[in-house]
Amino acid sequence: MGCYLVTGGAGYVGSHLVRALVDRGDTVVVVDDLRQGHRAAVPEGVELIQLDLADRARLGEVFAGWKFEAVFHFAALSLVGESMRDPLRYCMENLNNSLGLADAAVKAGVLRFVLSSTAALFGDPEVVPIPEEAKLAPTNAYGESKLMVEKGLAWADRVHGLRSACLRYFNAAGADPEGRIGEDHEPETHLVPLAIGAALGIRAPLTVFGTDYPTPDGTCIRDYVHVTDLADAHLRVLDRLEQGSVRYNVGNGTGYSVKQVIEAVERIGGRPVPHSLGPRRAGDPAVLVASSARLKAETGWSPRFGALDDIVRTAWAWHSAHPRGYGDRSP
Ligand code: UFG
Repeated sequence: MGCYLVTGGAGYVGSHLVRALVDRGDTVVVVDDLRQGHRAAVPEGVELIQLDLADRARLGEVFAGWKFEAVFHFAALSLVGESMRDPLRYCMENLNNSLGLADAAVKAGVLRFVLSSTAALFGDPEVVPIPEEAKLAPTNAYGESKLMVEKGLAWADRVHGLRSACLRYFNAAGADPEGRIGEDHEPETHLVPLAIGAALGIRAPLTVFGTDYPTPDGTCIRDYVHVTDLADAHLRVLDRLEQGSVRYNVGNGTGYSVKQVIEAVERIGGRPVPHSLGPRRAGDPAVLVASSARLKAETGWSPRFGALDDIVRTAWAWHSAHPRGYGDRSP
């Protein structure tokens, strides 16, 4: 049993890792500024410190107050579209907060660090499924900011011995299979919650962004990975860090088109997804599918909820039981 710091632990992916740690008996301290996170996503008994990572003095106090085995870093700006309207803010905030956190960890002697990274590092990939060795060429400022953080962490390893695992998530989706937590973003930009929300009548009809991509049905293909499987990947890489820093792509290795996701929501929910066909969204690559072969071979990770229907079923259960999400903002 260990004690872990989770930044952004009140957010979507972070809160699923917190549950996984608590479920196996670990002690968890969550740091979250609650701009996007939800107090109700953090289980009873877990210390939640409301803190902006830019506040280095208080961050230092957090490290002084606990003996952490490792840091899991989720807190970040993460909207691709917003990053293209305000690229400097994205680069500055994500870089400052992430490397400031790494610096605090090194100073406290905490030398294991797991970063929430992204498939956006790869831009428009030349090879699909995308292996870790693929060219890193982000096409948006969000991806660039994460690439800068990965590079900073590599230097921290070389100079300070900070072992890091950078997990490049593909499309995180689904909800806790036990229904305790789920996805609640504001604004919501992701396909699965938008399609489910449209079917439930709690969101506007969906717009399909582009039907003229070079894919079998003309809509974009993505690799949807269940958020509980993502959380499991975080637990598994911890042991691997004993051997050095690692970079892993995390996805199911199977791509589904926007139309296939809509069909899955209609099949699972038993209701139509009201939608219209619209133009492409700027910056969307046609196909993004991960090769997670390295993660599987080196950590034994394997998705438990790899089927699209499992992902949609757990998300549907959460949204239909919580039509206003955590209910901590105005309708
Ligand atoms: N889509 C629609 N209509 C919508 C929303 C999305 O058709 O209203 C489509 C998108 O065009 C895309 C697919 O559904 O083809 C998935 O879109 P999401 O917004 O759910 O996810 P993205 O693939 O755009 O983004 C994900 C992560 C980002 C990461 C990016 C890497 O959420 O953090 O992959 O490209 F940066």
